Amino acid sequence: MRKTLLFIEKGLLAQLYKTNISVYLESEVVLCNNYLDLIKQLENMEEFILIVAYYYVDHTDMIKEMPTLITEKGIKIPTIIVGESGQDTPNLTHIKESLNIPNILGASARVLNITAQMMAAYKVPEYYPIDIEFIYYLNKAPTSLFLNINNEYVLFASKDTSISDIAQDLKEEGVDKFYIKSLERLEIVGRITETLKEKLKQSSKLNSKFKAELIAEGFDYFLDHYVSPEAGQEIGKIANDCSRLMTDLVTESNDLNALFMAFRSNKDNYLYIHTMLGSYVASHIVRNVPWGNETHVDKIVMVFFFHDLYLAPLYAKYPEIRSEEDFNNNAELGRQEKHTVLNHARLAGELVSSIKKSPIGIDQLIRQHHGVSTGIGFADEYKDDVSPLAKIVIIAESFVEFYLSKRGENIQAPFDILSAVEYLNEKFKLNSYRKIIETLITLKI
Ligand SMILES: [Fe+2]
Ligand SMILES: [Fe+2]
Repeated sequence: MRKTLLFIEKGLLAQLYKTNISVYLESEVVLCNNYLDLIKQLENMEEFILIVAYYYVDHTDMIKEMPTLITEKGIKIPTIIVGESGQDTPNLTHIKESLNIPNILGASARVLNITAQMMAAYKVPEYYPIDIEFIYYLNKAPTSLFLNINNEYVLFASKDTSISDIAQDLKEEGVDKFYIKSLERLEIVGRITETLKEKLKQSSKLNSKFKAELIAEGFDYFLDHYVSPEAGQEIGKIANDCSRLMTDLVTESNDLNALFMAFRSNKDNYLYIHTMLGSYVASHIVRNVPWGNETHVDKIVMVFFFHDLYLAPLYAKYPEIRSEEDFNNNAELGRQEKHTVLNHARLAGELVSSIKKSPIGIDQLIRQHHGVSTGIGFADEYKDDVSPLAKIVIIAESFVEFYLSKRGENIQAPFDILSAVEYLNEKFKLNSYRKIIETLITLKI
């Protein structure tokens, strides 16, 4: 049987693709969800007739990676990337909408030269296997479901009966397929696909919201406990978990405004919001400078998580303050408070270096986040004595500050990215900073 290699993380979407491809293209689907496995599968690429990859899997940007793989491995099989647009070449097709299953199937059929008549004329046995997982998400049987017991097809559930508990039990027993009447297969898979697409749309929203809520909780917990030394390791773990969630969230977010609204509904607090949006903007920059890679994204998100934590009590005490430099010029602050403001970058850097397993170098980045290598005070002039990643943090923060000030003036008004770029070019004179600023033009607002 023809085989398709499907590269996507596990979950509902993977099931949708897998089942649709196997039913409509009459192809066995080999699912892989990590990059090393993909490379291993490609060693036997002659087994496959088609590769379908999601655009972002296992921290890998497949839009960038696939063309390199095609050249390096000499891949001649038609390849489709789903979820984002990119540069098409004779063997590589991009499909932007990840939930447009007919489009994905149509493109696959086209590159494989399969016609609708051919699809309809496939000779299939009387009963057709469907993954239990695919049906499991539905809770109810969409049609009569059969089990294959010693090569006999036994009715297991009639249409519309509840199957969720029993399907779970079957899975635990190692049964992974239901069978349906083959004649119904196209209709049933089409119908299930529609239902699941709806679920998926809702669940991805819920997921992001849920993630944002978890981050808000973790952030609070972190701020409340970071001073207690015995909580050190636990706190380190929470910071790690939260940063991981933040990386997920900034990766799956479509634009800055959506993220702003999501975070604002959790907590209308400058420290929290500028931390989260800063991570989003900095991740975008890292992914768009020529030397950036995914490990930088993890690092930079963590930097944001920690960078201003010593300012938390001050933000709570002076809620009207909307930028860090406002603290610097605020006459109300006491001497001790002023000292904290001037030293917050240095102190956070020291704290992070005392947490075991924090990624190498993030203490230095935190120290440099106001453009001063010692971590004391705020730079008047931004120079080349801080690391390139620190420059990204600095620019992302400045950008977010500008963005939030515009949102503060009028929350509905469209945001003009060019005015932000102009503002930043005015503030940062050196070429090394301006190169970073350039990448903001493509940021989704
Ligand atoms: Fe900050
Ligand atoms: Fe700061």
